[in-house]
Amino acid sequence: MKYLEECAALVEPEIDRWISKEIRPEVLAKAMRHLIEAGGKRLRPCLALSACEAVGGKREDAIETAAALELFHNFTLIHDDIMDHDEFRRNVKTVHVIWGEPIAIIAGDALFAKVFEAAAANASRLGLSLERTVELFNTLSRASFELCQGQVLDMLFEKRNDVTEEEYMQMISGKTGALTEAAAKAGAILGNASREKVQALAGYGRLIGMAFQMQDDVLGILGKQEKFGKPIGSDIREGKKTLIILRAMKLAPERDRETLLKAFGKSSATSEEISAAIEVLKKVGAVDYVAEQAQKMVAEAKMKLRVLPESRAKEALQAIADFVVEREF
Ligand code: IPE
Ligand code: IPE
Ligand code: MG
Ligand code: MG
Repeated sequence: MKYLEECAALVEPEIDRWISKEIRPEVLAKAMRHLIEAGGKRLRPCLALSACEAVGGKREDAIETAAALELFHNFTLIHDDIMDHDEFRRNVKTVHVIWGEPIAIIAGDALFAKVFEAAAANASRLGLSLERTVELFNTLSRASFELCQGQVLDMLFEKRNDVTEEEYMQMISGKTGALTEAAAKAGAILGNASREKVQALAGYGRLIGMAFQMQDDVLGILGKQEKFGKPIGSDIREGKKTLIILRAMKLAPERDRETLLKAFGKSSATSEEISAAIEVLKKVGAVDYVAEQAQKMVAEAKMKLRVLPESRAKEALQAIADFVVEREF
């Protein structure tokens, strides 16, 4: 959609400005910029810019915060790849693989620091009221904390065999839904939206984030590696309790479950064992189930947009909701 392409193009120079090549020591600049330069969909900035305009603001009003959200996202990705032992993202080597874990940790921290500097610049440029400024910073801070909680659950679940679907939902709500909620909500705050609209956009952001994560879990198993940019099957090796796995364990007959368990949570699993496990996941209907749940969330998310007047920005938010479950990358 043209509107969303415009959003992504709009935020690009702004992102670049906050992670200047002039940052010293040079290795810090390089490690901070590495994944951002490698690409990415810029979903969270697009959410913020569209939300801002959908409530009556101008996209430019939220530009620094939109950039901040991408810095935030990339900070979480750098640290997540350490936690998940993943060596590829956006079709390039991950930051810790290139520079080692200590530099990757600090590059993530440095990006996180810039989040608040950029948000402050945004509030200051707009002359945002004290109340709205506090709300903006609270939104970012709370999302950070919730994301940490979700990430801890994600790791704790690797070692448990009794994770419920409800617990999975709670985990993805934190690790992914919190930031997409913050993105849409921050855009609404900067667009000076009413309480009702801020709440509606927050709810929309949370739901599409969760649907996004479910689709991501599916693509992590059934996707094409070059398109997806991340290793396929690594969730299986890592023993991640994705909804697709939880469902398959429930549905699979004994023999298929054994095939799954040969690869699941086994860092030494061969590619044949991973492929066999993937075949089981396809066969037992777990994928269809997850797709259905994600569709439901997207429908619910779109309902939240009813409080907004018709506009190009609102159409963009609807298109993002559809994209979340239709995407292949
Ligand atoms: C990846 O997010 C992490 C998840 C929440 C699944 P994206 O899929 O938005 O990553 P990029 O920014 O497009 O690479
Ligand atoms: C996504 O984590 C959420 C965060 C990065 C906070 P995942 O571990 O599920 O996502 P990918 O597959 O590494 O992108
Ligand atoms: Mg990961
Ligand atoms: Mg992870």
